[in-house]
Amino acid sequence: MQLGGTSLVQGASRGIGLELVRQLLERQPGGRVIATCRRPDDAAELQELAAQHPGRLRAIALDVREETSIAAAAEAVAGETEQLELILNVAGILHGPGFGPEKKLAQVEPEPLRHAFEVNAFGPLLIAKHFHDFLRHRKRSVFASLSARVGSISDNRLGGWYAYRGSKAAQNMFTKNISIELARVAPHAIVVGLHPGTVDTGLSKPFQRNVPETQLLPPSKSVAALLRVIDSLEPDDSGKIFDFRGKEITP
Ligand SMILES: NC(=O)c1ccc[n+]([C@@H]2O[C@H](COP(=O)([O-])OP(=O)(O)OC[C@H]3O[C@@H](n4cnc5c(N)ncnc54)[C@H](OP(=O)(O)O)[C@@H]3O)[C@@H](O)[C@H]2O)c1
Repeated sequence: MQLGGTSLVQGASRGIGLELVRQLLERQPGGRVIATCRRPDDAAELQELAAQHPGRLRAIALDVREETSIAAAAEAVAGETEQLELILNVAGILHGPGFGPEKKLAQVEPEPLRHAFEVNAFGPLLIAKHFHDFLRHRKRSVFASLSARVGSISDNRLGGWYAYRGSKAAQNMFTKNISIELARVAPHAIVVGLHPGTVDTGLSKPFQRNVPETQLLPPSKSVAALLRVIDSLEPDDSGKIFDFRGKEITP
């Protein structure tokens, strides 16, 4: 069942988040999208989408590493709507200036670890803290966080990528925890993690050499598949992690 109403996409400046905003606007003619990112004024493609869909897309500043900015964004959203039908946590990092996924223990450094945990794990949790009241309504709603297959502990055969794997595994635990609490306070909300596949974005760029061409998804295909999964979610799915084909990933 397609969600209507207002959707929030957190981490919407580029990559999968930007494509989610584009497809949500295209498929829900009456629906509205609130897109958050660190610097909305610099997010040219988001601004272009806002111009193409007058009155339907609002861009709000939010840095998931700064709780004050999350709280301010929640206040700004409260000025627009009392209810959200969809909250998508998309922001994530795998590499950044001066750091990349660790191949061995000797490469593990506290600052990149902190950075990855702050964005990938604490981010969705703090978004849940400040935004779950928007899900306290009687319509079906979805709170989804972009996870990654490598965050699965049972599926870990290669090792490495300590910060990314660890932070996505922690995110998956928070997803389960949030699902348990929301079952009490927002019982129509379904809380899940979603693996988008290997998608051709800045995040995967340095690692695409080893990915067979057929397995590298353009953002448009990944996002269309993710939205199909979101549409098909049932209440019993809450707390679980799914890939873009709708197949459950064991934690
Ligand atoms: N691409 C893949 O193959 C793949 C595979 C598995 C899982 N995923 C997951 O999918 C999600 C989206 O990935 P992507 O491929 O679209 O990555 P991307 O193109 O690198 O985009 C990452 C997004 O995260 C935002 N971000 C980073 N730090 C932030 C912060 N502190 N506050 C707010 N936003 C922040 C970035 O905003 P700025 O523009 O401000 O930097 C950007 O919008 C991530 O959670 C990722 O782990 C991706």
